[in-house]
Amino acid sequence: MALLSVPLAELRARTSLKWRTYDPDVLPLWVAEMDARIQPEVARTVVAACERGDTGYPHGTAYAEAYAAMAERRWGWTVSAPRQIRRAGDVMNSILAVLQATTAEGDSVVINPPVYPPFRAVVSGYRRRIVEAPLTTEGRLDPAALEAAFSGQDAPTAYLLCSPHNPNGTVHTAAELEAVMALANRHGVQVIVDEIHAPLVAPGVQFVPLLTVPGGERAISVTSAGKAWNLAAFKAGLVIAGAEATAVLAQLPPLAQGSSGHFANLAHTTALVECQDWVDELRTEIAANKVLLAERLAARLPALSYRPTDGTYLAWVDCSPLGLADPATTFRERGRVAFSPGVMFAGTHDQWVRINLACSPEVVVEAVDRMVAALPR
Ligand SMILES: Cc1ncc(COP(=O)(O)O)c(C=O)c1O
Repeated sequence: MALLSVPLAELRARTSLKWRTYDPDVLPLWVAEMDARIQPEVARTVVAACERGDTGYPHGTAYAEAYAAMAERRWGWTVSAPRQIRRAGDVMNSILAVLQATTAEGDSVVINPPVYPPFRAVVSGYRRRIVEAPLTTEGRLDPAALEAAFSGQDAPTAYLLCSPHNPNGTVHTAAELEAVMALANRHGVQVIVDEIHAPLVAPGVQFVPLLTVPGGERAISVTSAGKAWNLAAFKAGLVIAGAEATAVLAQLPPLAQGSSGHFANLAHTTALVECQDWVDELRTEIAANKVLLAERLAARLPALSYRPTDGTYLAWVDCSPLGLADPATTFRERGRVAFSPGVMFAGTHDQWVRINLACSPEVVVEAVDRMVAALPR
């Protein structure tokens, strides 16, 4: 049975952000939570820990070792655990910890809008300044924009890269990543890459870990099993230092390592060790949902052109041909379907919406029907 086939009545009983933010008649395809059930193996691990009364602090390096084993198997990436890996809070708090270790107040940090909104928040909320190196119109990294950002007046000390990229699902190539590292290393910019979506690339597509490309030994990766296995309720993350960046690990803020919970580490470890088939099945279902969305939009809203990308379970759709002042609000208020407004990802993208496709095919079809229903007649 498909993983993304949980009946809506069951989903509506959920109490998480995705299901409780809007009125119950709004179909939620916004925040990155999946409409799948928890893996039985993970549920068993957590329940067994509860039954043992094992509700204390996390211990050991099992999560780091499980991640390293997965990285070797899937991507041929040999990373030494625990030497190069530290446990930390969730991914955004891991990024914060690395920024605190590698930059100072008032420093500039480069981001690539349109990008996952907390990237902006984690930089500006902690008194670092943002320098933007926007993606190209094709949604790829722009070496010229990066070069300009790295060599500009603000002289950034760090660069926050999203790989694969949220919201547009771009999977960066080895050549693109190598060019990024060459530029960053030449300008002395510390690269911090968020690889939380990595295990979810489309079937047959190769994800390239940044730390494996030439020059990547100076970068730092932050990651977690939380996104690919839908375990955000169990907050935990990992900081992985390139072979020449391990000194940063000793500089992480004192409490960063203790900031994930014991159950979270247990849950993520079980997902990595026992649930690789689960994520493979999910990748197949997501790829099919992307094709379905493209077909339904072509049939019902042919003014929009959506081309599936290989990364993430998110679709990034330009709605400007519809001529709406605020597409996401129109779809939500009139069509009763919630997407993430593009303006959250970049001020220039207020006509775009991000659609979460980790749902059943029936919900994809219904979402497009609701978009059509929202349009003025
Ligand atoms: C690129 C990216 N980084 C981080 C996160 C959040 O991760 P965490 O909950 O571990 O902070 C998300 C969630 O969607 C994401 O898309």
